[in-house]
Amino acid sequence: MIDTEAKKKYFDQGVELFDGDPAKPETCIYRLTESGVHFRLHEIDSGLGGDPVEIVQFTDVHFNFCNEKDRENRELQGTLEKRKWLSNAASVVSCQKAMEYASFFDQTVITGDILDYLSDGAIDLMWEHIWNVDPDVLCAVGGHEFTRQVQTGMPDQTSFSSRRATVQAAWKHRIDYVSKIVGDKAMVIVMDNNYASFYDSQVEPLRADLALAREKGYAVLLFMHEPISTGREADRAVKAIHVYDGEYYDIYEKCCAGAHSGGVTATVYRMITENADLVRGIYVGHLHSAYYTEVIGSYLDESEVRREKMIPQFVLEGNPYDKHCGHVLKITVR
Ligand SMILES: [Fe+2]
Repeated sequence: MIDTEAKKKYFDQGVELFDGDPAKPETCIYRLTESGVHFRLHEIDSGLGGDPVEIVQFTDVHFNFCNEKDRENRELQGTLEKRKWLSNAASVVSCQKAMEYASFFDQTVITGDILDYLSDGAIDLMWEHIWNVDPDVLCAVGGHEFTRQVQTGMPDQTSFSSRRATVQAAWKHRIDYVSKIVGDKAMVIVMDNNYASFYDSQVEPLRADLALAREKGYAVLLFMHEPISTGREADRAVKAIHVYDGEYYDIYEKCCAGAHSGGVTATVYRMITENADLVRGIYVGHLHSAYYTEVIGSYLDESEVRREKMIPQFVLEGNPYDKHCGHVLKITVR
């Protein structure tokens, strides 16, 4: 249950425009003057009426911490020595700020790189500050979850499958694909799309969910770690709205389902983009700077004629930046 008194008090603080163009709401980043949390907004009309549903995303938490047991692990000792960004659990503060903001809304989704690298200490922080605070949070995996080597220049010393099994065992829900209906209006889908790919195990659940969404009229919101290709060659150098780590990014080719990709990655990409009447937003992280793009999509109209429709894709900035203030995106489905 949302504490309406606490919510009123929290949102009594002032708001200022931090960056972006007010004429283009998708590019705007606002700042709460007391808590310091930065937020972006996306509004969707489901056409279903009734009370709005509000969903909060944040991303790239990067818990960097080794407990005593981790410190005995030779491989983690190397990372501990080299990796200074957010070391000693520095990103707890920004996670708490984002979780506080999110506590006033209906659903929270975190889009990966929750761990800076695979350590028991970081996993413990994830449970303590995320699922023990709100057991309903949905968490995508990022690339950092699957490695113990950061800035060491060394390859991982264990197999990818063993690390993936460790991450799955540490997670509260399936890491490849999970979905949830929020408020009988929004279908939240959380997918693993790391290494610029989609995976075989995602095809059937996505097919079933899209069919259900079509039957019920749900607005489908897709949450993943990596941005997907916009399908537009002009997006080889998209400029960030606000720069934290890189000013331009190729969201045509050097991204998930980039131009010329094939196999199951292309299959899932088509399932998403050819249902642009259902998929109302794509919410990702990974790049650490803030971007807004639109993915070229299409759908079949009542006369079975294929029509083009753009799908908004928000790349949310990493949560710890700007003095650990917390960065969130609030999606309102009306
Ligand atoms: Fe990241």
